[in-house]
Amino acid sequence: MFPSSVSAQIDRLCSTAHASRCKKGGKVIVLKMATLILSVVCVLFIRGCSACFNYDDNKSMSIATGNTYYQECICNETGYGIQNLEWRDKDDNVISAGPGTDSNIYLEYQGDRVNLHIENISKTMSGTYKCITKFEGQQYAQNFDIEAYEPLIFHNAPKTQYLLEGSDSRIDCIARGDSEPIINWEKGVDKPIEIKSGEKYQLTPQGLIVKNVTVKDGGTYKCAASVIQTGEQADRFINVQVLTVPVIKNINAMPEATVGEGESLTLECIVEPMPEPEYIWRKIENNNENSSQILNETTNIIVFNNVSINDSGIYECIVQNKAGNATRKIEVTVLQMPKIIDFKNRTEVEGTNITIICNATGHPEPNITISAIKRDDYEDGEYVVIIPPDWQVEHTYQGSIVCEATNEMGSDVKEMYLEVLHKPYFNKLVKFEWGWTGKTVNLSCAHKSNPPAEIVWRYHGNDIRTEEQVEINKNLLEMLSSAKDHYLPIIIDKNFSYGIYECEAKNEIGAVTKTVTLKQGFVPPEITNASIIDLTATSVLFSIEEPKGLTGPDIVGFTAEYDKAENYNITNIHNNRTWGLERPFKLEKLKPNTKYQIKFAAQNAVGTGPWGETLEFITLKKSAPEPPVWDLDFVETSSACDQVIKWKIPEDNGEPIDMYTLRYCTVHNITYERICVEENVEKTTHLELRDLECNTTYSVELVAHNAIGNSTVASISFVTPVNTTEESESILPAGVIIGIAVVVVILCIVLLDLILYFWKKQGILATCCCKNNKKTKNTTLNSRDKKGLLRDNCESTDDSLKRPNKGHKEYEYNKTTGIITGKHSAV
Ligand SMILES: *[C@@H]1O[C@H](CO)[C@@H](O)[C@H](O)[C@H]1NC(C)=O
Ligand SMILES: *[C@@H]1O[C@H](CO)[C@@H](O)[C@H](O)[C@H]1NC(C)=O
Ligand SMILES: *[C@@H]1O[C@H](CO)[C@@H](O)[C@H](O)[C@H]1NC(C)=O
Ligand SMILES: *[C@@H]1O[C@H](CO)[C@@H](O)[C@H](O)[C@H]1NC(C)=O
Ligand SMILES: *[C@@H]1O[C@H](CO)[C@@H](O)[C@H](O)[C@H]1NC(C)=O
Ligand SMILES: *[C@@H]1O[C@H](CO)[C@@H](O)[C@H](O)[C@H]1NC(C)=O
Ligand SMILES: *[C@@H]1O[C@H](CO)[C@@H](O)[C@H](O)[C@H]1NC(C)=O
Repeated sequence: MFPSSVSAQIDRLCSTAHASRCKKGGKVIVLKMATLILSVVCVLFIRGCSACFNYDDNKSMSIATGNTYYQECICNETGYGIQNLEWRDKDDNVISAGPGTDSNIYLEYQGDRVNLHIENISKTMSGTYKCITKFEGQQYAQNFDIEAYEPLIFHNAPKTQYLLEGSDSRIDCIARGDSEPIINWEKGVDKPIEIKSGEKYQLTPQGLIVKNVTVKDGGTYKCAASVIQTGEQADRFINVQVLTVPVIKNINAMPEATVGEGESLTLECIVEPMPEPEYIWRKIENNNENSSQILNETTNIIVFNNVSINDSGIYECIVQNKAGNATRKIEVTVLQMPKIIDFKNRTEVEGTNITIICNATGHPEPNITISAIKRDDYEDGEYVVIIPPDWQVEHTYQGSIVCEATNEMGSDVKEMYLEVLHKPYFNKLVKFEWGWTGKTVNLSCAHKSNPPAEIVWRYHGNDIRTEEQVEINKNLLEMLSSAKDHYLPIIIDKNFSYGIYECEAKNEIGAVTKTVTLKQGFVPPEITNASIIDLTATSVLFSIEEPKGLTGPDIVGFTAEYDKAENYNITNIHNNRTWGLERPFKLEKLKPNTKYQIKFAAQNAVGTGPWGETLEFITLKKSAPEPPVWDLDFVETSSACDQVIKWKIPEDNGEPIDMYTLRYCTVHNITYERICVEENVEKTTHLELRDLECNTTYSVELVAHNAIGNSTVASISFVTPVNTTEESESILPAGVIIGIAVVVVILCIVLLDLILYFWKKQGILATCCCKNNKKTKNTTLNSRDKKGLLRDNCESTDDSLKRPNKGHKEYEYNKTTGIITGKHSAV
């Protein structure tokens, strides 16, 4: 046969020839001749005249189901139209449906052609579809053999799949095609390895079974499907991850598993990284596995924004995937501030045993302390006492009872009032009172009682008749009605006012009686023993002994009447003086060298007792004053280390004091020498000592002077404070340093001289050993003597001070301190 293109060419030529023969008939001989020849040729090749087309044709094709099929059928012979075309379906039925019909198969007319549409090819639509044209009994057909086949599709081959570690598990990959596809497996992308059934793998229609999965089995797998019949093939890349059994590393509690009520808490279940974990949270109540509760959380975190006491408990995090699950527990403790919920006022009868209840909430359970203040009736004391359970109530605890509930979160304190019903209590059940005519004695029946007590006074006279007794008691009752606040005023006017008074206080709980004995009091007896213990020119000091045999209130003081002996018998008006018991019994401003007479009497609340014997004494002659007495009151000074010293004016012993002489010296350890300063002051009783060294002991000596002479020495010593701000003092002035240097050089020379002296009996020392020290050291004096400490005593105008070393000084150098000090050998 011809190749199809040539055959088509001939076809076209022939149809042209045929058409001209059939329609127009021969008119031109030449043309007829040509046509004849062509016809002959054509007859040789073509069977005869056609319609729209004048040949048969067969085409076959495979089409995947679900696709659309479209085929044109052209009517290209002149003189024919599409009415000469006919499509037949696979069952040889004429297809007539047009576009827009419900039919799956329809025709579309378009110019010179009729097109077949099959919208959605299914397997059953396979068959031969024909486009037919007819002419004069002649029929030509173009056959289109359509074979519908199922396309190659993956079923159940997810692109991400999981294998379970340690087990045999399958990677699913099912493909379906028109016929059973062949499936090949590969692992890896860059260097794919073909997988064959064997020890490790098993190929099944459902997929690839991987045996004894390890982590290494993860990766990308290729499931390649192919259908030989249709030549179709498809690849599916599957990302395979290996699922391991979940591992919980920890449950983190933030900030802590122990939180205070109202705080926030976050529990986080920390899991080894893994795909698709599923979280379940469980709360186990009261440590009881059976009473657990699944929480609503599905993530690895639980957040409590406002923790309540009910959130305490054990929380369990359960993590699971297909490979298994893991659980872990954490205990959450919610701390709660103590809160006292029950602590009420109570009223109890004294002597009963009670337990005071203080009920408090809180977690951990709070410690409860119940305390009360005990107020003692007899002593002025208040004690805090812890109240135990089963406690016997005492009236001294009436008042506030405090409950304190404490745990690590804090404490709560509440107070209640305990009222104790008790019998009356007196401070003292037996009392004595002194009375005397004219005095009003205020008898007391003051007591404590709850509820308030009724009181009744009774009187037992000393040696009085019963009638009198009854009468008095009647009066007492009347007085009681006017008496306020349990006090009974007794105006002593009669003898029988004295005696025993009884006060009975009584309430529901009990009755108590107090006895007051009212006795007659007298003035003190005569003083029998008064003696002189100190006598000066102008004063006298007595010792007075209280007289014995007192019947009455205590002695409160003494009175004395005195005068010069020469006046005593001339007049009745004498000097008098009264002392309280606490004062020194001293008379001042007496005349020197004079004879006096004096008598004493004791005094108490009743009055002054009788005078004792008259005493005689003679004051001393005028003399030097008494030594001053130090006044130790502290006085602030401008400089921290300076001191003000004060004293009291002493007895002048007949001549006025005109001057005080004060001398104060430093007191060091034995190794140091003393520095002394001396001052004379007039008409003053205090002196500020300036420029004192800090942290140094000073001894002070003070002498009073009058026209007759000096008093004895009054001494005192004190330590100056440590100067905290002292800095510059420790740094020696440049002059001192130069002075020290000079002294050191001189000392070296002296040492050298000494060595020379002992070794060779040569040098200055050898010739004159006793004179050289003093002269050389005088040069350094001025640098140190700023305070005038080394002032020559000759300047002092006071010749009366018998001081040695007048006009003579020595200086000493101390090696360790570098201080040069004046050396007063008098000290
Ligand atoms: C699974 O693999 C592990 C380690 O590769 C091996 O120790 C174990 O014996 C294997 N188990 C089975 C059942 O093959
Ligand atoms: C304390 O109070 C709670 C709650 O009201 C109650 O259950 C408990 O019995 C009380 N305890 C005492 C000792 O009263
Ligand atoms: C408890 O007693 C106190 C003192 O008497 C009183 O102020 C308070 O009101 C009382 N409280 C109650 C609840 O009765
Ligand atoms: C008795 O003494 C009390 C307390 O000292 C006082 O309140 C009262 O007024 C006195 N009564 C008389 C009558 O003096
Ligand atoms: C008198 O008092 C002095 C001093 O207090 C005492 O030594 C002397 O014994 C007393 N004499 C009599 C008789 O009490
Ligand atoms: C005590 O002396 C003063 C005057 O010095 C005089 O007025 C007074 O009456 C005297 N008292 C007695 C109790 O002598
Ligand atoms: C004060 O003097 C004492 C004895 O002289 C000495 O032990 C002490 O250290 C001194 N204190 C100060 C602060 O200088």
